[in-house]
Amino acid sequence: MPITETDFRRALSCFASGVTVVTTVDAEGGLHGLTVSAFCSVSLAPPLVLVCIEKATASHFAFLESRICAVHTLDETQQAISERFATPIQDKFVGLEFRPGIGGVPVIEGTLTALECRVINVFDGGDHSIFVAEVEKTQTREGDPLLYFRGSYRSIA
Ligand SMILES: Cc1cc2nc3c(=O)[nH]c(=O)nc-3n(C[C@H](O)[C@H](O)[C@H](O)COP(=O)(O)O)c2cc1C
Repeated sequence: MPITETDFRRALSCFASGVTVVTTVDAEGGLHGLTVSAFCSVSLAPPLVLVCIEKATASHFAFLESRICAVHTLDETQQAISERFATPIQDKFVGLEFRPGIGGVPVIEGTLTALECRVINVFDGGDHSIFVAEVEKTQTREGDPLLYFRGSYRSIA
């Protein structure tokens, strides 16, 4: 018997993850971003990471088109940024400090890490696309991560 979506979601929620915000810019200069927990390191040489983005999200097309992205890991004080980027609102960047990175990708200031990446492969992953990206620049600072576990935000402490 196939598993139900509820059982599947409940099982996956037992995997504790960090929380990232993945951003990009479209051909018209429009800024896009969403909260992503499906982030993973892939390779050290070359330096590759992957993120999984739902095909139905408003920004999916922009990641396909631009082929660049910035992956930010959030710290424990940045739950509000995660909530903002997980909400389908018009301008998610209002009032946020950010700078242009490679190819004009918006790099949010003050996150634990910011990885500026070029997408090198996109694979079909059911209702998500799997974006494999090569990291060209990193920015890192001290701090403890924001975690997500069993549908709630947590911190290490
Ligand atoms: C903690 C958390 C993790 C999430 N992880 C993912 C993810 O890995 N991939 C994804 O496509 N959406 C994920 N989402 C949902 C998107 O952030 C949300 O649907 C977002 O609004 C989609 O972008 P849009 O507003 O451009 O449509 C997550 C949401 C939360 C709160």
